Amino acid sequence: MKKIAVIVGARPQFIKHAHVQKTLSKKYDVFLIHTGQHYDDSMSGKFFRDLDIPSPDVDLGIGSGPQGEQTGRMLEAIERELLKDDFDYVLVYGDTNSSLAGALAASKLCIPLIHIESGLRSFDITMPEEVNRILIDRTASVLYAPTDAAITNLLNENIDGNKIRMYDVVRSSTEHNLEIARKASTILSELSLRSGRYFVSTFHRKSNVDSEISLSAIVDALTWARIKTVVLLHPGTKQKLSEYGLLAQLEAADNIVLSEPIGYLDTLSLVDQSAGVITDSGGLQHEADIMGIPCITLRHNTEWVESLGRKNELVGDVGHLIIDAIKDLEKEAKYGQSKKRV
Ligand code: UD1
Repeated sequence: MKKIAVIVGARPQFIKHAHVQKTLSKKYDVFLIHTGQHYDDSMSGKFFRDLDIPSPDVDLGIGSGPQGEQTGRMLEAIERELLKDDFDYVLVYGDTNSSLAGALAASKLCIPLIHIESGLRSFDITMPEEVNRILIDRTASVLYAPTDAAITNLLNENIDGNKIRMYDVVRSSTEHNLEIARKASTILSELSLRSGRYFVSTFHRKSNVDSEISLSAIVDALTWARIKTVVLLHPGTKQKLSEYGLLAQLEAADNIVLSEPIGYLDTLSLVDQSAGVITDSGGLQHEADIMGIPCITLRHNTEWVESLGRKNELVGDVGHLIIDAIKDLEKEAKYGQSKKRV
């Protein structure tokens, strides 16, 4: 059996790996490397338990750090692991620093790289994820692209069409798990929410949370909303909110339901029954689009361009644009117009 080293490290990769691991292990001898980019139980361990992902064969324990340092330490440690065996392939998911480090380690050792979720481009080179995407795709031997636009992006970058396959791991996972989530999750009653009468919000992008002005504009807009808004706090966002003295404002707001990060099935269920999502996450934008739920995107661009023709609206960190978009969705929720696309 051929040997494949799979690199994971951040929350969205655990979800993607959970979905493909069984198929993968029928074909390959899988060696799972966890970089340790996400290390809090709510961001890592919980996903392995809930989604029945086999424990990693090795946890590199890299943790947080400045972008370059974090990526460099991962590269060094992954290379060391890859040198211990004769791997036929390395596989990475998405666009995180863990994925870039895995791609670079594989390419330096001339091990063919498989990239799941390739070809996505926001065309905003200031995003660390955009740099990661371009470099990973450049070094990959097999590229699984989720959308037609992603395939076009790869072809425009002169990537050999024979290397490209179409596969949307997030869509496949959402479609597989949504019914399960609807039956299993009790998150609405746990948070005392009524179906169709609340928003779900998450934000953690550097451009939003590293700037006090942006973070403050987002918090002001969210606390303005009339219907309940569940804010799922990424630990990095929580730190920044405390640092800028904004956490107390969120905690004091009547409409805000603050929560720690929750599991995958609970998230699907929460989004599925919401009046809309307010986020800067790429994955959540795509999941909302798949479920036909409106999304207010706290960014000026998106790699999920197809969703813009549907219910995804880009508002960035501009307070009045966020509030206008919230008002529109509140009207839809009130008059029951928030009909699903699918
Ligand atoms: C990373 C990905 C991002 C993805 C996100 C999913 C990169 C460049 N970005 O962003 O694309 O959408 O994961 O969640 O790889 N922290 C903790 N505990 C943890 C993890 C992080 O407290 O378990 C805090 C640390 O203070 C850290 C900060 O969060 O400095 C940011 O974490 P990091 O992994 O660097 O990036 P994410 O924002 O999670």
